[in-house]
Amino acid sequence: MTANELRKKYIEFFKSKNHQEIAGKSLLPENDPTVLFTTAGMHPLVPYILGEAHPAGTRLVNFQKCIRTGDIEAVGDPHHLTFFEMLGNWSLGDYFKKEAITMSHEFITSPEWLGIPVEKLSVTVFEGDDLVPRDDESADTWRSLGLPEERIYFLPKEDNWWGPAGQTGPCGPDSEMFIDTGREACSSDCRPGCSCGKYFEIWNDVFMQYNKTEAGTYEPMERVCVDTGMGVERTSAILQGKKTVYETEGFTPIIAAIEKISGKKFGDNDEDDLSIRIISDHSKTSSFILGDERGVTPSNLGQGYILRRLIRRAIRHGRKLGIEGTFLSVPASAALEIYKDIYPDMYSRKDEILAELLAEEERFLKTLQKGEHEFEKMVPNLLKNPKKIIPGRMAFKLYDTYGFPVEITEELAAEHGLTVDREGFDTAFEKHQALSKQGAEKSFKGGLADHSDMTTALHTATHMLHKALRTVLGDHVQQKGSNITPERLRFDFTHHEKMTPEEIQRVEGMVNEQIQRDLKVEMKIMTLDEAKETGALAFFADKYEEKVKVYSIGDYSTEVCGGPHVEQTGTMGSFKIKKEQSSSAGVRRIRAVLEQ
Ligand code: ALA
Repeated sequence: MTANELRKKYIEFFKSKNHQEIAGKSLLPENDPTVLFTTAGMHPLVPYILGEAHPAGTRLVNFQKCIRTGDIEAVGDPHHLTFFEMLGNWSLGDYFKKEAITMSHEFITSPEWLGIPVEKLSVTVFEGDDLVPRDDESADTWRSLGLPEERIYFLPKEDNWWGPAGQTGPCGPDSEMFIDTGREACSSDCRPGCSCGKYFEIWNDVFMQYNKTEAGTYEPMERVCVDTGMGVERTSAILQGKKTVYETEGFTPIIAAIEKISGKKFGDNDEDDLSIRIISDHSKTSSFILGDERGVTPSNLGQGYILRRLIRRAIRHGRKLGIEGTFLSVPASAALEIYKDIYPDMYSRKDEILAELLAEEERFLKTLQKGEHEFEKMVPNLLKNPKKIIPGRMAFKLYDTYGFPVEITEELAAEHGLTVDREGFDTAFEKHQALSKQGAEKSFKGGLADHSDMTTALHTATHMLHKALRTVLGDHVQQKGSNITPERLRFDFTHHEKMTPEEIQRVEGMVNEQIQRDLKVEMKIMTLDEAKETGALAFFADKYEEKVKVYSIGDYSTEVCGGPHVEQTGTMGSFKIKKEQSSSAGVRRIRAVLEQ
């Protein structure tokens, strides 16, 4: 069964169980400061898990493109990917554990659907701790479906819990489903969750049933939700009897393209295989980021920085394989062809994606040249060193300042009869990694956004700002992006010139006037066409479901939006624009706050 067939079957199965299919969203989440990328299918649904009504109802199904780059340097083994697709079904206050698990079991084992022999299925269930009891309901459901005791594993919070780590909000135990590949166990302790490759995790059913409080306690929630995620790549590998995701049709054309330009054969030697996997994964992920409806370009910040790292790491591994010059458009084109029919919008941006990749490759090649030049300048001094060793901190400086990979420093060193103090480099590198990881973890933690009162108020202010900008500057103003943290809002919009101080003042004044009118905020559900007819603004690059939510702020603004918003504007405080600057060609960026 191909990935395309799997997606179709999954949607069809859940539709037959009264679920509504909804569209997957952008890889770049809006209004969620906790993550850089959409890391799971549940991400775009967080407001609905938190209690907002979803226009499509209480049973939903879809597939969602996802990116997880928590530790890019570790990606390259046979099982981890930075880009993947997640199939998901949701219950928003509808069914719970028994029904969710029963449907998962049917979809996996029934010959009508995946038809995986039930003997190959093992599951994990939350074992309980001091604060939350053992998840007996899930275990009992699995037992009632005929799963023998020895294939039901009870594991702690690290393994069987999903929710905001260290934060407050909805969370709960999960039950993960593993398929035994039939390979030999790595040890007597080998069990689902072990990374040796014997057990493949294909699906996770999460049961959002507690609210984690500030005090660290877990309060049972009245309205409980189910969030599930099935990995497309892993599951299709299992269904095709492949040992790794790289042997499926989601990768083979990309790998064939790399083999062709490098002259290397996948499967011949471990080191080359690692490079081939990295290039194929990273060129795919980079293409998806560049080609996203909210696509970003390489930069030194946030999502753009991750994109830059992915591209540069792929280039470096290209060099390792002996590929000369620019080459990324070759594997990237192969990746785009694979998803042509599933993501036609991305495919229509193919030329721009390839052009951006090429530009970044050229920039990186220049960086490398600069680094080589710096290195050559250091050589005479280094040769005076009797041990002919390049100190670790010097190799690290080349890496840190010029993006010069240590492997290349080693290559050049060897040409001059020098070696690199690799241990010294690694120590400096690890120290740096530890620091940047701390920063990255903050941004990569999958979970629930902070929907505090301040972010809600800033969200409402964003709608009012949008309207005020259109009034003051003209109807050409369109939202290009929005990002909200508990401290401020950031709003990108189309406009060709810098705003004058008077324009800024007028916009600010208008928003404050509307806040003071204490307008009532109301929500209506309608079709997208009806919404357009009422003149509601929308971020039309987004894909919408058939029915959408439209928020109106008194008689002032109407926008298609998922919410949440304040109920009345009167309590929002005073709106202040802190900064107006260029964001990219033809796009301006405003940062603004609400002061109490
Ligand atoms: N949100 C759950 C996961 O990503 C389903 O595993």
